[in-house]
Amino acid sequence: MPEHAAGKSRLAVGLMSGTSMDGVDAALVRISATADHPKVRLVAFHTLPYPKEVEDQLLRVAGGEPTFAEGISGLNFMLGEAFAEAALGVCRKARISPKRVSVIGSHGQTIHHYARSGPLPALEFLGEFAKLRPELDATQRKFKRRNPEGEMYFISFDYGIGRKLLKALQKGKPVKDFWNLPSSHTLQIAEAAVIAERTSVPVVSDFRTADMAAGGQGAPLVPMVDYLLLRQKREGVVALNVGGIANVTVIPANAEAGQVVGFDTGPGNMVIDGLVRQFTKGRKSYDAGGRWAAGGKAIEPLLERMRRFPFFRREPPKSAGREQFGKPFLDAYFRGRGRSRPDLLRTATELTVRSVYDALERFVFPKVSVQRLIVSGGGAHNRLLVRRLRELLPQLHISLSDDYGLPVDAKEAMAFALLADRSLQGLPGNLPAVKECRRGEGCGRQRRSNQRAWREVFLPSARHPRSAEGFCRAELPPARPSSRPAGQRCWRSSRSRDGLRPRSWQRPTAPSATGAQPCPSLPSL
Ligand SMILES: Nc1ncnc2c1ncn2[C@@H]1O[C@H](COP(=O)(O)OP(=O)(O)O)[C@@H](O)[C@H]1O
Ligand SMILES: [Mg+2]
Repeated sequence: MPEHAAGKSRLAVGLMSGTSMDGVDAALVRISATADHPKVRLVAFHTLPYPKEVEDQLLRVAGGEPTFAEGISGLNFMLGEAFAEAALGVCRKARISPKRVSVIGSHGQTIHHYARSGPLPALEFLGEFAKLRPELDATQRKFKRRNPEGEMYFISFDYGIGRKLLKALQKGKPVKDFWNLPSSHTLQIAEAAVIAERTSVPVVSDFRTADMAAGGQGAPLVPMVDYLLLRQKREGVVALNVGGIANVTVIPANAEAGQVVGFDTGPGNMVIDGLVRQFTKGRKSYDAGGRWAAGGKAIEPLLERMRRFPFFRREPPKSAGREQFGKPFLDAYFRGRGRSRPDLLRTATELTVRSVYDALERFVFPKVSVQRLIVSGGGAHNRLLVRRLRELLPQLHISLSDDYGLPVDAKEAMAFALLADRSLQGLPGNLPAVKECRRGEGCGRQRRSNQRAWREVFLPSARHPRSAEGFCRAELPPARPSSRPAGQRCWRSSRSRDGLRPRSWQRPTAPSATGAQPCPSLPSL
């Protein structure tokens, strides 16, 4: 019987660094009980903060500054080392050998995320572009300032979207012109092969790319975990994570997995942090406890303008990143405002709070009865933000995720440990919609890439509730037969009968008398 079904407990590490780019969070967890009702207990938590130069470099790259492929490639490997160090660090903290860890789930560091949600928003902007085309150069800067979100459509425009394509879009026809239309794309770095090499633990990564390739938004990824760990029999729950971006998972009372919805509501700490960095010339990166903002007054006309930003009106599912609420947003709405710093910070804090409130009012409360709001993420330390949420949503019982055994700073990292564990167990997204559909119909497709190196195997993974299918990459620790001492573990996957699904990760046969034991069936590298 597989471990998860038997409820046998195992250790897993989750690694997470979000859009705040503050550092790598590592959570060592013990997972037990069954797949449908897992128990996840935090054993230790560790954060490896990014040095200032790395944070600045990441902010530049993610902020869209021109960069060389060499820079991104180098960052990918450097962060791989950092993520590995965070994983080893949390094991040291718990005084547990990494050998006892069954899997590492690594989210990686997002440096770009763009999720297109249907033809409508594209249409809106393309229509604008069609009008603007003759004077595009002259108006480009102005248009960018007014529509930071529209910026990305310049790319497609620059590549020259033809009239035919535009007409098809206007009619709402599905267009499969991937050469010309900007398709959804996302990039998380922190090379999983490096993490596997340094820790000798299998690593599951590329959760977002997998979800996006399968038709999801690639974000948020945690709703399934929220469903597994936070669902209540008699109360509707909203789990709100306030990282760089804020996202919600909506879990109706006694919900089936298929009823759970998750989406990004807009900025979490991103706009606040951006202003603090500007005001302090980078010496500080956040408003501790929200104290700075607490001394100011929200600028209502500015707030109203920002609330009209197209992202907020868009129907879920939707996701956001630095592309929407990073520097272009700050420049468009805050630059050159002759108001005091506390007022501007208060306005940014209020934007986060009201965008969460608006999203719940618009998209959630009309459909789902909600009684509880569970807050997590670094934003939970912002007392002003939590106080304002309580004031705006007095009908909800609002508490921190700490009360549910998920400390606010560790929750997302814990989630990736659980997602990786599920992936390694070969569990699909565990949604009714998935269970019901038949093999080959785009549900829970399980596959292995034959072209790739033996270490890189695709496994069914954690899935966004809305995506039709999803996979993520599993990195196995390398086999170095000549250098591996006797008894040290190496791994291989065995195929299921259909040859598609890895049945389990097996330890190799016992070491030979001569000492070094090559992994059978694996090529020497
Ligand atoms: N004491 C605090 N007071 C106010 N904000 C805080 C505090 N500690 C952390 N934060 C905010 O939380 C952010 C980090 O949150 P986190 O959940 O790690 O986000 P992400 O997932 O985007 O990395 C910081 O950038 C900061 O804005
Ligand atoms: Mg963080």
